[in-house]
Amino acid sequence: MPNSLWRKWLCPLLCSLRDGLALLLPSFLVRRLYGPADFAFLVHPRDLHDVERRYPFFRKLSPQVREWVLRYHWPVVLDKISVRDALGRRTTGYLISISLTADQMLPERIVAKKKILRALKLAEKLGCKIVGLGALTASVTKAGTWLVGRTKLALTTGNAYTVAVACGDIEQLIAQLALVDPLIAVVGCYGNIGEALTKILGRRHRLMLIGRASEMLFAFLDRMKGYLDKETMISTDLDALHEADIVITVTNSPSLKLTAEMLKPGAIVYDLAQPPNADHPSFWQSDRVQHLNGGYIQVPGLEMRFDLGLPKGVVFACLAETILQALERDFRHHVGCVDLLHVALTQRWAWRAGFRPALGLPEKERVIPNACERFAHVRGNDTRMA
Ligand SMILES: NC(=O)c1ccc[n+]([C@@H]2O[C@H](COP(=O)([O-])OP(=O)(O)OC[C@H]3O[C@@H](n4cnc5c(N)ncnc54)[C@H](OP(=O)(O)O)[C@@H]3O)[C@@H](O)[C@H]2O)c1
Repeated sequence: MPNSLWRKWLCPLLCSLRDGLALLLPSFLVRRLYGPADFAFLVHPRDLHDVERRYPFFRKLSPQVREWVLRYHWPVVLDKISVRDALGRRTTGYLISISLTADQMLPERIVAKKKILRALKLAEKLGCKIVGLGALTASVTKAGTWLVGRTKLALTTGNAYTVAVACGDIEQLIAQLALVDPLIAVVGCYGNIGEALTKILGRRHRLMLIGRASEMLFAFLDRMKGYLDKETMISTDLDALHEADIVITVTNSPSLKLTAEMLKPGAIVYDLAQPPNADHPSFWQSDRVQHLNGGYIQVPGLEMRFDLGLPKGVVFACLAETILQALERDFRHHVGCVDLLHVALTQRWAWRAGFRPALGLPEKERVIPNACERFAHVRGNDTRMA
């Protein structure tokens, strides 16, 4: 049998059948079949292209059959992940995917929740103790709170470490680019991550808070009063981004796509959203603005074959936090509003485990000084920047 036929067609199909069967088999048999694991991390395809990469035959199906398959397919195990950290501690887990694309997740919340519960069932059968809610699986379950009491597993959004890393990256950028009193925009400010970023960054920097609904924005501003020590603006209009020096995108909208032209010349966009909000081709062709992917973590001793579309050894911060919890044997829930004490704790865990933000990696460090030179001409005489 030709190798490509096995790799592209039969293997994914048989694995998917095996995972469907695992949901029906008793736990002890499933654990025997798959091997031991501490954690699982839930994901979903960003779009149909992601589904086709895993199942090449999917593109041959008619639109009606595709729709039917995505709606009724059970959760599948994409890969086994193992990590040996800087202290020599080991943990293993599974990457589990539900079959809804990002575009389907928010409008089809009820279907999405049912699929997430089935994925948790699979994780339970696999013997996992904790599950990380990746991409939009946290958004549709009210930051995981809707799932508490519906599963025996500990749950984490992974948003605490994501916030820690984003704040660290932003401070590093400000220092390296010697920005003076920068205006930082948070797009998606009253979401789970946006709120925690506002609380931490609002103490030290001028903020522009961007949200969709003005009444939500006013209520949010009221709630944040004790955290905002500097001038703060609010807006529902993305045109306001023209004034910001740094733009953090952290929405749950797969359709929101910023372009380089929407930003101030010389601005930096730090894109935390998954699917991304700032992956428009204009960012790659433009010399006007600097684009950075947020929440990337280099994990030591990482073994994972599945391609998340990230550099080798790098994972998203929410997956990194799930791995850290497994390494620390912390099998408690970390869902709902992000606890700022837990943000600091995850940072300490990460440091001793040897996990490092990928923005600080040697190859990425070169990007930042280059950006200083590359964007000096577009910043011109702006006195707020050195
Ligand atoms: N890179 C990483 O490591 C990492 C880790 C964790 C999460 N994430 C990603 O981070 C993002 C946010 O996660 P979350 O848990 O904070 O989600 P969330 O709690 O659901 O918040 C998302 C916020 O985005 C807002 N929003 C949606 N469309 C918008 C628009 N067009 N303009 C302005 N705001 C808009 C929503 O406002 P409404 O309520 O008004 O709709 C909501 O407040 C997601 O994309 C997630 O996948 C990334």
